[in-house]
Amino acid sequence: MNATKWKMKKEKKLKLIDNIKELKEEIKHLRGTIGLVPTMGALHAGHRSLIERCVRENDNAIVSVFVNPIQFGVNEDLDKYPRQLNSDCQMCEQCGAKIVFAPKVQEMYSNKKDDLTLICPPYSLVDMLCGKSRPGHFDGVCSVVAKLFNLTKAQRAYFGKKDAQQLFIIKRMVQDLNFDLEIVPCEIVREENNLALSSRNKYLTEQEKILALNISKALFEAVKLYKTNTATKRAIIDNSLKLLEDLDVEYIELVDKTTFELQQEPNDNTLMLIASRTPQTKTRLIDNIEFVK
Ligand code: PAJ
Repeated sequence: MNATKWKMKKEKKLKLIDNIKELKEEIKHLRGTIGLVPTMGALHAGHRSLIERCVRENDNAIVSVFVNPIQFGVNEDLDKYPRQLNSDCQMCEQCGAKIVFAPKVQEMYSNKKDDLTLICPPYSLVDMLCGKSRPGHFDGVCSVVAKLFNLTKAQRAYFGKKDAQQLFIIKRMVQDLNFDLEIVPCEIVREENNLALSSRNKYLTEQEKILALNISKALFEAVKLYKTNTATKRAIIDNSLKLLEDLDVEYIELVDKTTFELQQEPNDNTLMLIASRTPQTKTRLIDNIEFVK
């Protein structure tokens, strides 16, 4: 192997770190900019697009892999959430990330959730959509993300538009608490059939995978209807409800993407969001689309 090849291989080497002390030590020695991709693991091509962008735009890319217990409700899927650290590390190394930070729960939280300092986003942003059916969820998300920002000292952090409410709330947290970093929103990655990639797609049966296609179909048809100039919110939602009749719809909503306020009628600022559960495995799937003419 010649020197250049060896150097490239050496630079590709990924460090897997599971404790805060070692992470801090490692970060002290990094040169240049630091980018962070927070994840809960079970990485797929959606995560990969964030990691690749983070590698491109920063001297050092850190990926956190942590199934954050404080963002799960009591009856949610914390225990069965897919965990596959080996293959996650392989993907991170292939992408050129420098560090995977995968701490154990005790490393991140020495106390139970109700005995921790938490970051609670404004009520107006959590009393709707995903926050309504998942009380406390966004407190858990903001709290872990804030810890990761502090621990990694990242200048940029990458989040997917797939979790649109999460992205909006995190941007708001950064603004309200003066975090000194840039939030980089990344496009939704879909399968060829338009199903939005998600770690939870693993739970779906073959039949449910077909049913789930109606979620993106409803969103894409909604944009088409909007483009006709004649479709009202009612017509758009009725069309979606028809497509989603075999799923258990939690919400179908239109919000203004600049404020996240609910809209009475669509316009060029509309973000349409859907959450629904599949009939057999009760998997909760979310997706969204921006309206543009
Ligand atoms: P997780 O669901 O693992 O997602 C990690 C990041 O990947 C999020 O920013 C999410 O929006 C993005 N992502 C997931 N699927 C995507 C897709 N199909 N296209 C583009 N981006 C996608 O979101 C979380 O973890 C957690 O709440 C976390 C922020 C890590 C806090 O625990």
